[in-house]
Amino acid sequence: MLQELKELRDCALRDIADAETEEELEELRVRHLGRKSQLRSVMRAIGSVAPAERPALGQAAGQAQKAIQQAFAARQSDLEGADTGDPFDLTLPGRRPLAGRLHPLTALTEELISIFSRMGFSIADGPEIEDEYHNFDALNTPGDHPARDLHDTFYLEDGRLLRTHTSTVQIRVMEHRSPPVRVVSLGRCYRRDTVDATHHFSFHQIEGLYVDENVSFADLKGTVAVMGRELLGEETRVRFRPHFFPFTEPSVEYDFSCSICHGRNRACRICKGTGWIEIAGAGMVDPAVFEAVDYDPERYTGFAFGMGIERIAMIRHGIDDIRLFLENDLRFIHQFRS
Ligand code: DAH
Repeated sequence: MLQELKELRDCALRDIADAETEEELEELRVRHLGRKSQLRSVMRAIGSVAPAERPALGQAAGQAQKAIQQAFAARQSDLEGADTGDPFDLTLPGRRPLAGRLHPLTALTEELISIFSRMGFSIADGPEIEDEYHNFDALNTPGDHPARDLHDTFYLEDGRLLRTHTSTVQIRVMEHRSPPVRVVSLGRCYRRDTVDATHHFSFHQIEGLYVDENVSFADLKGTVAVMGRELLGEETRVRFRPHFFPFTEPSVEYDFSCSICHGRNRACRICKGTGWIEIAGAGMVDPAVFEAVDYDPERYTGFAFGMGIERIAMIRHGIDDIRLFLENDLRFIHQFRS
């Protein structure tokens, strides 16, 4: 009987080693360990041998059963590993982790900071929740000015407001510093605009301010021209048109020549065939603004400009809907290299 047990065990181990699939293995399990297996009938027969021989036979049967069970378990996990692919195959190429990208507005903001740093401007910051004084009064925008209308401005219950432009930072900087001042400030602004493809209640601006003795309109033109070339290409030209802003005198709006069609496409979506793209407002700082911050308007002059950042990004990337910037759709953001 001992010999029989040994043969049963060897035979089972050979079968298990040869099994190629999990189904085959299951069949072998029934055959070698099931209730009708030879091993079980040998075990049952041990009960009828002489009592003196029983312990040795019982032990040998138990060991054979255990060896077969272990062989099953080992083969089973081998076959499972083969089915799902070996997780430790060092020859497989690695999985590339999902890399984040800069939001196109962040990328453009950083680029603008770099352009203006190279021209000697430093970066200034101001709060998004402002008071009427910094958003309007100090900027020579009196109480009856239409810009202060409830239709245009988000007011908080305590009378403060969400800044409608970054011009507020001009005042905040000049309150704490004496000339010369050469700063840009970039950040979020808010207006109660009805949201459509070109308007949003939340958008970004860059504000520039340069104050010193003898700062002239020529300095403004030169600075804006450099910005245009850096942003839209070497051949970009600038055009100034007379305009009105309460905080500058004289005031202008400036346009860049169209970098998309160069004025050659009547149906151009960006410049509508005019060859020029309206970009932003600018001017020479109004003496009333200098008086609000205790600068001597007889001694100092300065220029300022304010420009929408979304607008530039839309022109550069051919984006036709401003809402895309805020929707947080990764399919949009992943189109930009950064
Ligand atoms: N703050 C103006 C706006 O949001 C833009 C602007 C115009 C800023 C002229 C300036 C400026 O600094 O000189 O419409």
